[in-house]
Amino acid sequence: MTQKHNKEKVVLAYSGGLDTSVMVKWLQIEKGLDVVAICGNVGQDADDLAWVQKKAYDMGAIYSRSIDMRAEYAQTVLTKAIAANALYQGAYPLLSALSRPLIASKLVDVAHETGATYVAHGCTGKGNDQVRFETCIHALDPSLKILAPAREWDLLTREQEMAWARKHGVPVPTTAAKPYSIDDNLFGRAIECGALEDPWSEPPADIWTMTVAPEDAPDAPEEIVVGFEKGVPVSLNGRKMSLVSLIAALNDICGAHGYGRIDMVEDRVVGIKSRECYECPASLALITLHHDLETLCLDARTLQFKHKVDRLWATTVYEGLWFSPIREALDAFCATTQQVVSGEVKAKLYKGSLTVTGRRSPCSLYDQNLATYGDGDSFDREASKGFIDLHSLPSKTWSRVQGPASRALASEADETDDAGDDLVILSA
Ligand code: ARG
Repeated sequence: MTQKHNKEKVVLAYSGGLDTSVMVKWLQIEKGLDVVAICGNVGQDADDLAWVQKKAYDMGAIYSRSIDMRAEYAQTVLTKAIAANALYQGAYPLLSALSRPLIASKLVDVAHETGATYVAHGCTGKGNDQVRFETCIHALDPSLKILAPAREWDLLTREQEMAWARKHGVPVPTTAAKPYSIDDNLFGRAIECGALEDPWSEPPADIWTMTVAPEDAPDAPEEIVVGFEKGVPVSLNGRKMSLVSLIAALNDICGAHGYGRIDMVEDRVVGIKSRECYECPASLALITLHHDLETLCLDARTLQFKHKVDRLWATTVYEGLWFSPIREALDAFCATTQQVVSGEVKAKLYKGSLTVTGRRSPCSLYDQNLATYGDGDSFDREASKGFIDLHSLPSKTWSRVQGPASRALASEADETDDAGDDLVILSA
């Protein structure tokens, strides 16, 4: 056996970009490993990823593969995110957090297929993605060793990295790099760094690629109708579609109306507050419409509890705990609730906004005869009196014993006002 075959192998999550291309070489030179480079297609802005595979071979990888994960990503991950109305900190549809577990699971599969003992990723030491990759890999196979070259090497600036690349025959980009860090997939696009690091400065126009500026959007509104079956989006404007096609179509339609931009300050797992911009036309639209349909189909108590489950689901997945008993248990709850979340929701897109304009469902709990103030009212108004007597009984009892509850609040407010007046008098 040649010496080459005695080398240990590392499976690298490879994107084809400068960082991970340098890593293909660096892992060979600095760590003496054979490199297996795997590129996952989760719907990022590149349809044909064959060049990525070739580039890895050019860098000396012993094996390389681009894996199309789009359908699996949509069916096994995005359906769950939609069912859980997943928005981290109430705003971010988790796109990066959602793709990492699937990519990690493929890296582990390939490690097993090729007998690799290491898995490597290109994440830096400051972000969430390192946490997610590594937590997922540890959960799937605790015996695999993990390498994070960007956390270890001393190529700290882009210039240092380019110089190292030139020296070792890694092609360097000829165009000036966009000063942003971008991650994208079917569920949207994340933009970080550069001018965005000042949370007060408005995002430069050139960060947006999926959405037009709302002020440049068409003057006429556009209606969309999305059909759901058991919580899963299945049709757009009456046409049945795979989830991958539906998301792609919605990204185009909503993006053309300037809908889907997010500018927020986010709390990373590693304790840093960071300014993040996202473009999420389809994911935000689907979550908004899905949540609306739930309000029609789920009973009040389930809805109320599900809000808590949804928030916990989002935090759990954000923190990289996809492969965890808690995520599975939360999904089991969501799955039970989704059995009745079928129907259609329509919305109007107009200059950066999406407004739900209607919903209908065979499982609708809405009863017009109960709700109406017009003819056909079947609600028993008499019953309300008895209900209120019992509902307010604890309030009456409290009030009788402690005095009217609202008085305390009113007098506190009065005192503050008085104190304010005194100050004015004193200083006059
Ligand atoms: N802050 C987001 C998250 O943690 C986006 C991360 C995007 N990654 C990147 N390399 N730009 O989910």
